[in-house]
Amino acid sequence: MASRFYVTTPIYYINDVPHLGTAYTTIAADVLCRYHRLRGHESRMLTGTDEHGLKIQRAAEARGVAPGAHADEIAAVFRATWPKLGCAPDDFIRTSEPRHKKAVQELWSRIKARGDIYLGHYEGLYCVGCEAYYTEKDLEQPGNVCPLHKKPAESVKEESYFFRLSRYGDALLDYYKRNPTFVQPASRLNEVVSFVREGLQDLSVSRTTFEWGIPVPDDPKHVMYVWFDALANYMTALREPEDNTRFWPADVHLVGKDILRFHAVYWPAFLLSAGYGEAELPRQVFAHGFLTYSGQKMSKTLRNTISPVEVATALSEAAAAALPGGPGAAAGAPLVGVDVVRYCLMRAISFGQDGDFSLQDVLSRYGSELGNALGNLLNRVLPFAEEVPAKGALGPLEEELAGAQRQAAAAAATAFDANQPTRALDAIWTVIAAANLYIDKAAPWVAKKTDPARLGTIIATLIEQLEAISVMISPVMPVVAGRMREQLGLPPIAFEEGSDRWPMALPSRAPGEKLHRGSPIFPRLEKEKEAELLARFAPPRPDAEPGKADAKAGAKVDAQAGAKADSKAAPAASGGAEVAAPPARQGKSPVAFDDFARLDLRIGVVTSAERVKKKDRLLDLRVDTGDGAPRRIISGIAASYAPEELVGKRIVVICNLPPRDFGKGLVSEGMLLTAEVEGRVRTITVEDAAPGTPVF
Ligand code: MSP
Repeated sequence: MASRFYVTTPIYYINDVPHLGTAYTTIAADVLCRYHRLRGHESRMLTGTDEHGLKIQRAAEARGVAPGAHADEIAAVFRATWPKLGCAPDDFIRTSEPRHKKAVQELWSRIKARGDIYLGHYEGLYCVGCEAYYTEKDLEQPGNVCPLHKKPAESVKEESYFFRLSRYGDALLDYYKRNPTFVQPASRLNEVVSFVREGLQDLSVSRTTFEWGIPVPDDPKHVMYVWFDALANYMTALREPEDNTRFWPADVHLVGKDILRFHAVYWPAFLLSAGYGEAELPRQVFAHGFLTYSGQKMSKTLRNTISPVEVATALSEAAAAALPGGPGAAAGAPLVGVDVVRYCLMRAISFGQDGDFSLQDVLSRYGSELGNALGNLLNRVLPFAEEVPAKGALGPLEEELAGAQRQAAAAAATAFDANQPTRALDAIWTVIAAANLYIDKAAPWVAKKTDPARLGTIIATLIEQLEAISVMISPVMPVVAGRMREQLGLPPIAFEEGSDRWPMALPSRAPGEKLHRGSPIFPRLEKEKEAELLARFAPPRPDAEPGKADAKAGAKVDAQAGAKADSKAAPAASGGAEVAAPPARQGKSPVAFDDFARLDLRIGVVTSAERVKKKDRLLDLRVDTGDGAPRRIISGIAASYAPEELVGKRIVVICNLPPRDFGKGLVSEGMLLTAEVEGRVRTITVEDAAPGTPVF
């Protein structure tokens, strides 16, 4: 792996404001850049805005402003948005900047000097939405309709400069062959290869019928084709204001699958023509998939309704309000919602595939993967110590956990190196699950009573494991990593070029260092709060026409319709519209959904079980339901289970029934769910959920 890393996002058109789709790529780039910085690589991330072309000129005209003023306004919105999503690009390039204009004109002149630009006449079809030339066979018939924008392509007939793309077909095919990972995911390479194999036509690279573009050197009545201008940004940004050309070639251009052809065909052809050798072509173009929101395609209306920053802010507010001391307790606390959005985008949609983002899924991951698995791990450890305890002899359980860490760290690093954040997170979550399981097995609450030295070993092991986890999650969740580290008494991660901070093995902590137990990072959200968020961010009705007067108002009504659509996949969606009662069925009378939602049902792991003296029917259980210390449950299942059969089982527990007193100090703090099978009581079990995982 090179000791330098350069990642780019597409530069975004300014006919739109940032939305979930553009946030997705920008967050992914930020995650990869942060990962490489951790590995000690000199790392750089570039994003920016694509400001020229007919599409932008028309967008500005529609607003009655000059294109330059429009560009200033929208570029500022983009620039201000990325930090609100935790992204820290090193540079933000605007194609209207003089530094870009100058370098693009030089690129043009180099290509022209090689004889690859000539003057001709273009006659054909152009989709302004795509800023791309089409032939009739690419378009939907009748009417030459663009398959992406669903609008007829426009006929263009004008003088134009052409780039001799047709010269580069063989060179490109050779390059793909020698560099099979140039296009990722691998399946996308086939598309690119077949496009090139079909034969490349020369490309029209200038226009004369509008003015909002970079003038062609020596022929200013032509402006450059916006893609010629835009693709060059990845290099032009490295030249000024300071010289960063050492970062070239880019390690990866992250792009959406719709713009792969421009990056994997036109861009390397321009570079080859300008005299760059194969070693100076970008190392990889990674095409990610398209996002839907709650199953709906991202129409313009939807994009405007679902702002990733608003979703993140609402989650932060909900989390702050759920803290024991209320919102006040979180005053000044960094915002966790941003990290939750980043995590869900990177985890829920396998990077490279199409996928769906929904608030229902975010809330469920918040409760389970973040709250119960990660947050709870911290909450289960810190109550045992105020400082790092001394570690005694390590046993097989500690060896097993250290092995799980080594494996997860190696797998996550391989995944991040391959630009696969989803796989990296999958690997990291295996060690979080292993650490939770270690607590179940090592039972610190028993050691606390019987063997304080052993307790020290268990807690010190977990503190070291938590430190390793804080580092591994930091590319995706920098805020959460920081808060974990504060509670663990650790300073922020110190980045240093050449120093690899990746925890390939467990770090070690000096005994006696102070810990600072704080409020939960992912406090449990009330069901009512979740329902409120689901309603607020419900997608507009799919058939709501963009721009129609009632489309916005529809969003309110649709809070119901949207949740209903969701409820197919996730029955827990509250707020679904009630329908007429179905024909009478046998069983208990119906309950309101809200009454059902009030039940606090969770996965519990039985940590101990014993018979109750003089009460043959009863077993006295300790069950870890993710609260830090196990809860006591007295259950009348002694006739069906020997106590040892229950230990380690993952059962379903109702946690919010009033405590029940069985006499003689036997107070039960919950109830197990069971079913009677052929006269024997059977517990309802699951295979692999962490203690505390909510059950809906
Ligand atoms: N300006 C060009 C890129 C020039 S790069 C030299 C452009 N801009 S764009 O603003 O229209 O799109 C930017 C990116 O957003 C593209 O990669 C596109 O795939 C991505 N997305 C837009 N909607 C998206 C989703 N619904 N889901 C995921 N990404 C999506 O194209």
